Amino acid sequence: MVARIITVDPFDIVVFGGSGDLSRRKLLPALYQRDRSGQLPAEARVIGSSRRHLSDEEFQTMARDAIESFVPKADQDPAVIDRFIARVGYVSMDATGTDGWPDLAKKLSDAPERIRVFYLATAPDIFGPICEQISAHGLVTPASRVVIEKPVGKDLESAQDLNNAIGKIFPETSIYRIDHYLGKETVQNLMALRFANSLFEPLWNSKYIDHVQITVAEDLGLETRAGYYDTAGAMRDMMQNHILQLLCLTAMETPTSLDADTVRDEKLKVLQSLKPMTPMQVANLTVRGQYTAGASTLGPVRGYLEELERPGSMTETFVAVKAEVSNWRWAGVPFYLRTGKRLPSRVSEIVVQFRAIPHSVFEEAAGPLQANRLVVRVQPDEGVRLWLMIKDPGPGGMRLQYVPLDMSFAKAFSVRNPDAYERLIMDVVRGNQTLFMRRDEVEAAWSWVDHILDAWAASNEPPKPYRAGTWGPSSAIALMERDGRTWHEE
Ligand code: BG6
Repeated sequence: MVARIITVDPFDIVVFGGSGDLSRRKLLPALYQRDRSGQLPAEARVIGSSRRHLSDEEFQTMARDAIESFVPKADQDPAVIDRFIARVGYVSMDATGTDGWPDLAKKLSDAPERIRVFYLATAPDIFGPICEQISAHGLVTPASRVVIEKPVGKDLESAQDLNNAIGKIFPETSIYRIDHYLGKETVQNLMALRFANSLFEPLWNSKYIDHVQITVAEDLGLETRAGYYDTAGAMRDMMQNHILQLLCLTAMETPTSLDADTVRDEKLKVLQSLKPMTPMQVANLTVRGQYTAGASTLGPVRGYLEELERPGSMTETFVAVKAEVSNWRWAGVPFYLRTGKRLPSRVSEIVVQFRAIPHSVFEEAAGPLQANRLVVRVQPDEGVRLWLMIKDPGPGGMRLQYVPLDMSFAKAFSVRNPDAYERLIMDVVRGNQTLFMRRDEVEAAWSWVDHILDAWAASNEPPKPYRAGTWGPSSAIALMERDGRTWHEE
């Protein structure tokens, strides 16, 4: 089937932090790609804004450079780049002060009815003040939306403060909290897999599933984000949001429709079912690590502390957790979650391990029987693999083999895999909140995570070292092995 492109309604998007990394690497390329596909109407405008004093033309040059640097060469069409750049303008402003706001108001004033997206690609501590300025300058219209990036707070209390500050200006139905994992194609495919097939749902419970593993591994280190990362760590940066969202989509009940609140109600119930851990359980069921010098796929690399140039940091770059979803469907099924930087490769996947068959009719010579396993590969090599036992072809009696029924999306469909931001920005314009985190979801996630963070802080134990290029501290392997299970590796 061919992808269907439906043009969105006219909109203006104002990107605060417009000259920053996120805007250059993700937002401008994503908007360009949607323009190239024909989804942007002629009137759509992109207004960058930051403290830097730039003219429209200077910002346009920056935007052109971003597209030429971050859009694959094959997708760069000079005529579309020119058309896109003509949509781009700039306002230099002090986002939390008063300078520049009248200029922004003037730029927007010719289309007051149009959908207005305020994208806050800035540090989270100024989300609240920016919203206040947007309101103080009379820029909030009925068709306005605000988009914020994670982290939404650093614990429950700060998340509530932030949500209150934004909620004073915008209603919840206009607030779009991005978790870009929800925009990834394969993550959405998880819903298709579960709810568009009758095959899995009857088995999707503790009777047939032994355990679930969710891994989000990166081979990268700190890159240019040391300042932010050292205040966050893997638990706040990846687990509180991306991994818990993947867990929600895996564990939630079937929603009655794909309506935003119906889906989010179901995800919320999963987050509320996560069993809070006591400090003793945190010591037994979580592992935090920090990488030391070793090797990445590109060669030797420094350890976290050397990269950071700050000895003594206790920030974790790896975390593994054995979580429990305490409800009727999942009681007794462990969810092993892990994420880390400087691991051997970049791989995100959800592994659903089914239970072993109750009784084998095969002789020992047939070889060992392995239980079925469904692997949803989020990235790279997006696809789904269902591991089955089959008979080894050819003569020689009944010999069994464990092989994957392999559905590689790249091989099956010859369409470009869009970046998550393309989908998500268009959903903001369309007013569809299904793939965005609602306030109560974010806060429920923090409630569970806070128990772990508090216990770590109280124990004052440093994270366990692991060599860059390995799968984390050995205790992360032990976390599964002592339950007689192993992490999935292909
Ligand atoms: C971000 C984290 O949310 O996700 C980064 O802040 C991480 O630390 C990134 O590198 C990973 O995203 P992706 O899409 O490359 O898997």
